Amino acid sequence: MIKFQVNKKLKTDIIIVLCTQDYLLKSKAENKKLVSLGISRELLIMKGFKAEANEILPVFSKKKDFCLVGLGKQKDLSLTGLRVILRKSLKSIQIARAKSVGIILHQESDADVQAVIEAVLLGGYSWDKYKSKKSENTLLGKGYVIFAPKKEKYFDTISICQGTNLARDLVNENADVATSSFIEKEIRKIIAGQKKFSIKVLNKKEMKKEGLGFHLEVNKGSANEPKLVIVSYRGESSDQKFTALVGKGLTFDTGGLNLKSSGHIETMRMDMAGCAAVVGTLKNIVALQPKKNILFVCGLAENVTGSKAYKPGDVIVGYARKSVEVANTDAEGRLVLADAISYTIKNYKPKEIIDVATLTGACVVALGCDYTGLMSNNDSLAQKLLASGEKTDDRLWQLPMYLELKDSIKSEIADIRNLGFPQGAAGAMTAAEFLRQFTEKTNWAHLDIAGTGFVESGERMYFGHGATGSGVRLLTHFLT
Ligand code: BES
Ligand code: ZN
Ligand code: ZN
Repeated sequence: MIKFQVNKKLKTDIIIVLCTQDYLLKSKAENKKLVSLGISRELLIMKGFKAEANEILPVFSKKKDFCLVGLGKQKDLSLTGLRVILRKSLKSIQIARAKSVGIILHQESDADVQAVIEAVLLGGYSWDKYKSKKSENTLLGKGYVIFAPKKEKYFDTISICQGTNLARDLVNENADVATSSFIEKEIRKIIAGQKKFSIKVLNKKEMKKEGLGFHLEVNKGSANEPKLVIVSYRGESSDQKFTALVGKGLTFDTGGLNLKSSGHIETMRMDMAGCAAVVGTLKNIVALQPKKNILFVCGLAENVTGSKAYKPGDVIVGYARKSVEVANTDAEGRLVLADAISYTIKNYKPKEIIDVATLTGACVVALGCDYTGLMSNNDSLAQKLLASGEKTDDRLWQLPMYLELKDSIKSEIADIRNLGFPQGAAGAMTAAEFLRQFTEKTNWAHLDIAGTGFVESGERMYFGHGATGSGVRLLTHFLT
C-alpha cells in the first residue's frame, strides 16, 4: 500500500532519505530537508557518508530511524538508476525488517515520484505462490508513505503497476494451471460489470466453422481447448475505428514435433507473455477508461508433441486462405498470430494493429533482454510506440522491414513457409515478414518480447526472477 503526504511528520518504522551528492554539498540553508530531519552535515561527515550510488547509511536516533540512500551525482542519475537503487535499498537488511517505510525524495518532479512508485511496486514484486515458507514481510506487503503531494497521476501509476504485476502473475503461473480456459476466466473477471466492455470467445468448434486453420493445427496435439478471445472496449463513438492489440498466448511451447531441447524448454510457460501483456493492459484500460475504441485479442493455444500433433513438412491453410509450409513446428507463434490478425482485420477493420509476442529466440540474439524488438509497416505508428517506450522505460528498438524480405519466406510447395531463409539469418525480421503478409495494408506494428518478457536467471534492472510484464506500461501509455 502506498500513501502520499507532505505536511505531517512521517510516522513509519523507518524513513529512507534519497540523497544525491549534489544535494549533500548544498549549504545548510538550501539543505532544509536533511536539517529538518535532524541530520546535520557534521554527522554525515563523521560517518563518512558521501551519497555514492547504492551507499546506505542507517541513522538511529531518539527521534526517528533513518536510512540515507546515496544516489551518486545528479548528472549520472537516470530514472532507471533511481528505480534500481531504491529497490536494492528496500531489499537491504537495514530496511527489509521494517513493516512501514517512509520515502523522502531528493527532488519531487512527477517523473521522480512515479519512478519511486515503480521501484516499490514493480521492484517489490516476487512470485512465491509455490514456496512453502512464505515471508510475512514481503516488499509488496509493507506500507509505504511517499513524501510528496497526492496527485491523480500517481494513482494512475499505481494502477498501471498493478496491471503489470497481473501480467507477471499470469506468466509465472504453472502452464497446467494457466491454460486457455483459465486465462479466459481471468479476462472475464477483469471486465465483470463493466459497461463499455464486451467479450467474444471462439472455441475449437467455432474456430473450425470460421476456418482458423493455422490456430487449430498448432493446438492439434493438445488436450486443452484452443481459444480466440476478443474483448472490445468502446471509449468513444462507435464510428471511430478500433486500435487492436493482439497477443501470442502459447500457454506452453514444447516446440511440437520439432521438440525443443533441454535448456530451451524449461521456461516455455512464458510463451503466453504477449497475451498476458494484452490482459495486463486491459486491466489498466478498465481503470483508466480512455476515450478510444480498443480491441484486446488473445490467441490461446498449446504447442505439444504426440500422435495428434501437426507435422513438419505439412502444408496448412489459415483464415486468410493462404497456404503455409510448416518447415518447423516450433515456429508456431506466427501461425496463431496470423490467424488472429486476419480474423481481427476481416471482422473489425481496425485502424491499426499492434501484436505482442515472445516470437523468436533470434530477437534475443539480436537485441538481448533489455530492448523489445519493434517491426512495423508504418513509420508514424512506430515512432509513437518508440516515444511511449522512451517515456515508460518499457524499451523498444526498431528493426527494419523492407520489400525484399518477402523472398526470405518463399516456399516450393505452398504460398509461404513458416521459417526464414537463409536459416538463422535475421530470424526476428523474417518472422515479422510472415506476420506482415497477413496485415492487408492495415497499419501494423509487431513487438517481439522474447528477450524482455522473462528474467531467466538473476535479476535485471529493477526486475527480479521471472516475468517482467514487458509491454504493459508501453501499451497503456500508447493507448492513453
Ligand atoms: N516461443 C519461441 C520463441 C522464444 C525463444 C521465446 C526464447 C522466448 C525465449 C518460438 O515459438 C520459437 O520457438 N521460435 C523459434 C523459431 C524457429 C524455429 C524459426 C526460435 O526462435 O528458435
Ligand atoms: Zn516455438
Ligand atoms: Zn513459441
